[in-house]
Order: sequence, then structure tokens, then C-alpha cells
Amino acid sequence: MERAVIIGGTGHIGTYLVPRLWKAGYQVICVSRGLRVPYSPHEAWQHVEAANIDRAAAERAGTFGESIRRLEPDVVVDLTCYTPESSRQLVDAMRGHIKMLLHCGTIWVHGHSTVVPTTEEQPRRPICDYGLRKAEIEAGLLREATTNQFPVTILHPGHIVGEGWAPLNPAGHFHPRVFQQLARGEELVLPNFGLETVHHVHADDVAQAFELALLNRDTAIGQSFHIVSGAALTLRGYAEAVAQWSGRTARLRFLPWPEWRETVSDSEAEATWDHIRHSPHCSIGKAVRLLGFKPRYTSLGAVHEAVQWLKKMEGKG
Ligand SMILES: NC(=O)c1ccc[n+]([C@@H]2O[C@H](COP(=O)([O-])OP(=O)(O)OC[C@H]3O[C@@H](n4cnc5c(N)ncnc54)[C@H](OP(=O)(O)O)[C@@H]3O)[C@@H](O)[C@H]2O)c1
Repeated sequence: MERAVIIGGTGHIGTYLVPRLWKAGYQVICVSRGLRVPYSPHEAWQHVEAANIDRAAAERAGTFGESIRRLEPDVVVDLTCYTPESSRQLVDAMRGHIKMLLHCGTIWVHGHSTVVPTTEEQPRRPICDYGLRKAEIEAGLLREATTNQFPVTILHPGHIVGEGWAPLNPAGHFHPRVFQQLARGEELVLPNFGLETVHHVHADDVAQAFELALLNRDTAIGQSFHIVSGAALTLRGYAEAVAQWSGRTARLRFLPWPEWRETVSDSEAEATWDHIRHSPHCSIGKAVRLLGFKPRYTSLGAVHEAVQWLKKMEGKG
């Protein structure tokens, strides 16, 4: 039985990935600070070894890599790596000791869309600090794969959706009131023409891709893959579909960005700006071809499930 260490395995992705790997026959070891619990229960969690390690503190002490090595992993899934230094510490400790490292990246490594759908081959032109750091991590890991035969694969998810948290909404931020407005037939104001795009993915589809990469490791090693739904949505198309779920026709109004941003809070404007200036629309062709990735959810299907959960919570509140 292979030992799979998942760093940060109790969050969005881990909630689905841990049960998948347990069912696939792995001994799963979940590294976290022990603060979070998975979004949904599953029998698998009774069989998971929990390793309580604060990554940030252990990295400061220079002990993180060694702590992971002591867990004797065959494979490591790294869901919480945000800096090149953090990535280097782990790689240095794992070199020669593991069969595979799976790193969770982000489609933000691409910066704004140019030729769509964006493929993995397109140059990295990140436009935000997070994207810059993730692109640098990716480049470092791919260099390790090429020069030192380090067995690493990078998966880049889009906007992760699932039951248990508010999905990115049709206005490009996270406040759930937007779904209520559309369901009640109220007017929704969108920035510009509502034609900028967002690209969701269900957390279980992200987990599926991690599982497939492990299964197809000979093909996956040394590669990066986008992990998103089959198609991105324009904000306008997204809003119209959400209104239709409640039998409504979306009542949309459009404002140029500088005016629109005054209609929402600063944090909402910041989230929307971050999404629309990227306007992601990524291809999953490579993951389909090389890993057999087959998303179970469309963008709308994934969001619908999350919105049903939100409604259930409102009913309880
Ligand atoms: N969310 C998105 O839409 C999105 C989109 C693209 C890419 N990504 C990528 O997805 C990855 C995050 O995955 P996720 O969304 O499943 O994570 P998440 O829901 O944020 O969960 C974070 C996990 O890491 C643990 N954790 C947090 N701080 C820690 C620390 N200092 N030491 C040890 N464990 C710690 C948490 O448990 P405790 O709190 O109990 O420690 C939890 O298990 C990142 O690499 C991110 O770049 C996310």
C-alpha cells in the first residue's frame, strides 16, 4: 500500500481528494494544523493518519521538509505551497525519497487571457503577486524535473466550487446576495458589457485530476495541466443562467468599470477586478488527452450544487 501525504488535505480539494485516494487503496496521511474539518463527512476520515504540523512555523524553523520525510511518503500532494522558498524546502527534503510530488498551482500563472482557450504551452505572463509566485514555483519545479529528474506534476485549478462555501458569483465576487437578486428577478448591475469570463471547476473534479495524475504518473511527471470545467462563462451568460434556475429572465444593467466599482464594497470590487482583468478561459485538452480527465461538472452544474447548499444554509439561518 502506497503512503500518500496530503499537505492541506482538509480544505476544498482535500474534502474530495482524501476519500478518493483512500478508496483507491492509499494509506492517506493528512498534514494540517488541525483547525479545519472537511466540508462533508466520509468514512475515509476514520482511516486517515492526521499529522498536525504548522507549515509556516516549521518552515521558519527549517524543519518542514524533514517532518514530511519522516512521514515516509511514497507520494506527496502539496495543496498549500505559495512561495518559491516553501517549494524549494520541500523539494530539497524529498529529493530521492519519493515517487511523485503533485503540486497545486493556479490558472492565474497565465495573467490575462490572450488566445483562448489558453493552453499550458502559452507563456506565463502573471499579473498579480499570487500568480507571479505560483509561476515561479512552477518554473522551479519543471526545472527540477528536467535537470534532476525530480518526479513532479503541477495541476492548475480554476475557481474551485463545491458544497460548503460561496462560489464565485456572476458579478465576479463572492457575496451570495447576487444569487438571491437573480432568483428574485431583481436588477443586477454588471461591469462593462458583462462579457468578461470566469472559469470554475468543481472541487471533486480537481480531486479527480490529482487521482488521475497519480494513476498515470509516467505520463504526468514533468508536466503541467489546467484543471477547469469544459468551458468558461461570461458574467452575463452566467447571470442569465442563474436567473433561469428560478424561472426568471435576468434583469441586467451595465456600467463602465469606474462607475460599477462604486456600486459595491471595496473588497467586492477588488475580487471582481482580479477576476475580470484575468478573464480566464483555459483548455482542458491536455488533461483529457494525457490523463483521461473527464469533468463530472460543467461550470453551471458545479455552481448550481453550491447554490443549493447556500439555500439550505439560508433556510437553517
Ligand atoms: N480556492 C480556489 O478557488 C483556488 C483556485 C486555484 C488554485 N487554488 C490552489 O488550491 C490550493 C489550496 O487548496 P484548497 O482550496 O483545497 O485549500 P483550502 O480550502 O484553503 O484549505 C487549506 C488546507 O491547508 C491547511 N493549512 C492552512 N494553513 C496551514 C499551515 N500553516 N500549516 C499546515 N496546514 C495548513 C488547512 O487546514 P488547517 O487550517 O487546519 O491547518 C486546510 O487543510 C492552493 O495551492 C491554491 O493556490 C485554489
